[in-house]
Parts: sequence; C-alpha cells; structure tokens
Amino acid sequence: MASGTQQLEMQWMDRRERTPSLLNLPVARRLVDGMGALGLASVAGGSEVVGRSPGFQHETVLRDEVAEFLLPENDKLILDGTLGGGGHSEALLRKGANVVGVDQDDEALDAACSRLAEFGDQFLPMHGNFRGFNSVLEETDVLLDGIILDLGVSSWQLDSPERGFSFRFDAPLDLRMDPTAGSPASEFLATATAEEMADVFWKYGDERGSRRIARRIVERREEAPIETTFQLSAAVESVSPRRGKTHPATKVFQALRIHTNDELGALEAALRWIPTHLRPGGRVAIISFHSLEDAIVKRWMRSLSAAWLDRREWPAPKPNPDYCLDEIFRKGVAPSSEEVARNSRSRSARLRVAERRAV
Ligand SMILES: C[S@@+](CC[C@H](N)C(=O)[O-])C[C@H]1O[C@@H](n2cnc3c(N)ncnc32)[C@H](O)[C@@H]1O
Repeated sequence: MASGTQQLEMQWMDRRERTPSLLNLPVARRLVDGMGALGLASVAGGSEVVGRSPGFQHETVLRDEVAEFLLPENDKLILDGTLGGGGHSEALLRKGANVVGVDQDDEALDAACSRLAEFGDQFLPMHGNFRGFNSVLEETDVLLDGIILDLGVSSWQLDSPERGFSFRFDAPLDLRMDPTAGSPASEFLATATAEEMADVFWKYGDERGSRRIARRIVERREEAPIETTFQLSAAVESVSPRRGKTHPATKVFQALRIHTNDELGALEAALRWIPTHLRPGGRVAIISFHSLEDAIVKRWMRSLSAAWLDRREWPAPKPNPDYCLDEIFRKGVAPSSEEVARNSRSRSARLRVAERRAV
C-alpha cells in the first residue's frame, strides 16, 4: 500500500495532468513547489473539473464587506482559507486579485473550481487544512496581501443528507469536513468517557444537559453502538424533550462537529502563523459564527494591536513586543438586516479585520 506521502504525490500527479494551465501562474508555481506532505495538494482547476457536487448551495456571508475591506485590487495575492462554494473568492477575483483557495472538503473544491473556471490562472485551488498552510508559504518567498477565513461549515455540508452533519437526515455519524483525515464522530462516542463527552457538549455547545446526555449515550452504547445521526438525536431527545422551535440535539451536533474537526485548534494554529506571512499593509478578515470563535479572534487582534502593555503592578506601561496589527474596527461587523432577512444563517456572523503593520 502507498504511504501517505506517496498517495499525495499520486493524487497530485493525477490531477496535474488535468490542469496544465494551473502551473502558468508564477506565484502558483512557487506555492506548488513548496507543497509539503502536510496534506496540502493542488487540485484541478478550470473547466475540466468533473462536478461531483452539482447544485452546491451556499449563500456567501458578508461578501461585499470582505471584498471591500481586503483591498483586493491590482493583482494582489489573497488566501481564501475556507473556499467553500467560492463566493468570497469570486468577489475578490472580480476585483482583480489572484486567489489561492484552500478547503479541506473535496466536494467544496469541486464546486468552487467549476464556479471559478472563468478566472483561469488567476485562481489556484488547493486541498488541505488552513492550519498548516504556513508550511507551503515557508517553502517559498511569497507573502500574502490578504487572508479571508469564513469559519465553520457551509450550507452544502449541513444540508447534504449523507455527510452526517445534521439530525434532519439519517446518515452515518461522521461530521468530518475532510472524510480522509481524523476519525468520525461515532468513534468518539464509542470510546470517550461520559465526562469527556459532557466536557465537549458543554464547552463547544453550551449544552446545559451535557452530563445527562453523556450518561444516556453511555447507557445506549452498552446496548448497541451509536453510529447514525438518528440514533444520536434519539438519545438526546430521550433526556431533553422538544421545547420550542429549536431541536434538542442542535447544540450537541454543533459541539461534536467542532470537536471532530478540531475547529478551534485549527483557528488558533492559523492565528499563530498569519502575522509572519502577511505583507505589511496586508489585511486579514475573519468571519466567526459563534462566540467561542469570535472571542479567540478578538483576543488575538487586541493582543497584537496594542502598542503598549500596562499592568497594575508595573510603575509605567511597556511597549508591546508583539505589536504588529492595526484593528480596522474595534467592534465586529454584523450582517445588515437585509442580509439576515435574506439568509437567516448569517445572523450570528461577526467579521473582524486587521492590517499588518510595517515593523
Ligand atoms: C462557511 S464555508 C465557506 C463559504 C465560502 N466563503 C463561500 O462564500 O462560498 C466554510 C468552508 O471552509 C472549509 N473549512 C472549514 N475549516 C477549514 C480548515 N481548517 N481548513 C480548510 N478548510 C476549512 C469547510 O469545508 C467549508 O467548505
């Protein structure tokens, strides 16, 4: 059997044959040369992509705001680390930027490649997790002019019956954005202790019934493994009956998804490398959809955009050695009421933008 690296190379070779034009973009060539064995592989671009995701649906959130605040004009190089259906990328490409679009979900990449085929070499799609994208940049002398991270899952992922993201459809309980990496959520439910499960439901889902639900899962799995979405939602409903419009399993599914994909770990890893690989004057825009993510982004931006540090026990403030960003707004930008009326999934979105200082 081929090793992981060999598999990656084979996959890359297969796809390169279908996309010779991709390599013409000089910056793409340098990025592609730098791709390591960290799960980043360039994928097919252009019209040759065989769409495995016909009808991919995702309404881009805060699209115009991102396209305005990232200043994408004049051939700038922007990383879209959460390509999804390519909505932000398209807006940036239309304004003249070169875009490297990364997604860990092959179906999203296929859909985005079809949508963005008209941009040819202006667009470079890559499969992988944005948490490790610095390894590509480190192999090159490329600095980014902009970065967009539109966190979480797409509507396509949530609404695809077979992906296991939703309790609305019966499917294997997977919840991975990249089904080739890590392990499915069902494995965690099969092996974790009740305390470990309760921690996840509480920390990532704010689920008040976390302990009760975790204990019920342990009881049920002694009878039969919990391997499907319906088995999990039935276990939750048996201790948290329906009240109001929200399904009682909503928070548990959100928490499991965040845990399964290590979403906060990926975000924190990216925040560590972003300042190093952003050109002075370049901007980073991050859209989060729940308070845990937004708190991480806010704390990060604040800590890197304070010129001075002050503590009560110090006689005087000291210069902040990490000062390298300027926040564009102190408060996160929310979608307009028109956008929320058009797309209710945008209601919890918050956009934060910062600019890299020349230091
Ligand atoms: C909210 S959607 C992005 C939608 C996109 N901005 C658009 O307008 O169509 C998030 C996408 O990012 C991907 N994603 C989430 N976390 C990721 C990560 N750590 N690395 C790579 N892709 C990720 C998901 O698979 C999903 O396709």
